[in-house]
Amino acid sequence: MNKNCRICGEKLTKIFDFGKQPLGNGFLDEQNFKDEYFFDMEVGYSQKSFMFQLINQPDPKKMFHENYAFFSSTSNHMKNHFKNFYQELIDSEYKIEKNNSFVVEIGCNDGILIKNFSDSGFKHLGIEPSLNVANVAKKNNINILNSFFNKNISEKIIKNFQKVDLFLAANVMCHIPTIVEVVSEIKKSLSEKGIVVFEEPYLGDVIEKNSYDQIYDEHVFLFSGHSIKYLFNIFDLELIDMKHQSTHGGSMRYYLANKNQYKIKESVNLFLNNEKKLNIDNLSGFDAFNNNIKKSKNDLITILNELKAEGKKVVGYAATSKSTSILNYCDIDKNLIEYICDTTPIKIDKFSPGMHIPIVSYQHFLDNPPDYAFLFAWNHQNEIFEKEHEYRKLGGKWITHVPEVKIF
Ligand code: SAH
Ligand code: TMP
Repeated sequence: MNKNCRICGEKLTKIFDFGKQPLGNGFLDEQNFKDEYFFDMEVGYSQKSFMFQLINQPDPKKMFHENYAFFSSTSNHMKNHFKNFYQELIDSEYKIEKNNSFVVEIGCNDGILIKNFSDSGFKHLGIEPSLNVANVAKKNNINILNSFFNKNISEKIIKNFQKVDLFLAANVMCHIPTIVEVVSEIKKSLSEKGIVVFEEPYLGDVIEKNSYDQIYDEHVFLFSGHSIKYLFNIFDLELIDMKHQSTHGGSMRYYLANKNQYKIKESVNLFLNNEKKLNIDNLSGFDAFNNNIKKSKNDLITILNELKAEGKKVVGYAATSKSTSILNYCDIDKNLIEYICDTTPIKIDKFSPGMHIPIVSYQHFLDNPPDYAFLFAWNHQNEIFEKEHEYRKLGGKWITHVPEVKIF
C-alpha cells in the first residue's frame, strides 16, 4: 500500500474509498470469473505536490499487455481531434519542422496521433507497451518500440537517435505510477529548445462535473495545473501554456519546456487562479466531491430500481473503462442493466469487469432496442447522438450521471 505521495513522498490524505474494484478494462470470459482480480480503490491527495492519486494501483503489467482492450481509433471524433492537435503544433511558434524535428510519443496506442507526423515524413518514434495495439500502429508504418517508457528506453533513444524536439503524450501520463522517473528521463532526452506537450483528463472537470468514473485503476493520477507545475519543476522544466480540451469529458493540454526558453503564456495564471477558486489546490475542494459521489450513487440506484419496477428494458451504451467504476461502486448487475453494447470486437461476447454484465455487439442494440440506455460513453455524446437519432425518434431515452443523474 502506497500511503505516501508518489511525487513528493509526503503522507497522503485519504479523500474517498470506492471499495473493491476490478480492472477497468478487464473484460472477461465466464470461466475466469472465479479468479478475477480486485483491488482496494482509495483516492488520496498530497497537500505539498497537489497530486490527486490512487493510494494503491494494480501492477501496470496487469493492465497494459498483448490483449489491451482500448483501441484509440475506434472514435472518428478522436481521429479528428488528434489531426487538429498535430496541425496546431505545426502552426505553433515552437518550430516543429519535418526536416529538423524528432518527435517521440509516449503511449501512442494504434498510432492515432503520431500517424499524422509519420504520414508527413517526420522523424518519429512511438513507445507503446501493449503489443496488440502497437502492432496496429506498425502496420500503419509507424516506428514503434514495444515497451513502457522508462530509463532504458530513454537511453536507447539518446544512443540510437537524437535528442527529442517534441515529446507527445495523450491520456497516458496519468497512467504511469513511476512518473517521476519518466519526467526525469524526458528532461535528459529533451533538446534545449524542445517542448513536451501532453493532454490528460483534468481534475477541474472531474470536480465540476462529478465525473467520478474518471477514477479507475489505470488513472493513478488526475492532474491539475498545480500538480503538473510542481512535478516538472523538480527537473527544471517550466509550464509555459495550458489549453483546455473537451475530449474525454474535459481534458487539459499542458506545454512544458526547459526554463527560460519560451515566454509563459497568460493561460497558465488564468487556470492556476481558477484552480484556487475551485479549491483543488487544497483539501477543502474535495469535501463537496465526496458528498456528490455518494448522492450520485443513491440517485442512480433509485432511478434504476424504479425503471425495473415499471418493467422497462434498460441497457448500457458503450463498455467504457469508466463504466467499471460506476457499476462496481453502485453495485449494478444484469438485473438492473441487461446488457452493454460496444463496437470494440475484443470486448464483444465477454462480460463486464466485476459485475459480469454481458457485452454485446452494436448490432444487438439495433436489433433489441431498449426503453432506456445508460450512456457510459458520455464523453462521446455528440458523436453518438448523431448516430442514434433513430433510437430517439422511436422513443428511446438516455440516462446519464454527469453532472447529475438524469433521464433525457
Ligand atoms: N494516446 C492514446 C492512447 C491512450 S491509452 C489516446 O489518447 O487515445 C494509454 C496507452 O498508454 C495504452 O495504449 C497503454 O498501453 C500505454 N501505456 C501505459 N503505460 C505506459 C508507459 N509507462 N509508457 C508508454 N506507454 C504506456
Ligand atoms: P472511452 O470512453 O474510454 O474513449 O471508451 C470508449 C468506448 O466506447 C469504446 O469501448 C468504444 C465504445 N463506443 C461505442 O461502442 N460506440 C460509439 O459510438 C463510441 C463513440 C464508442
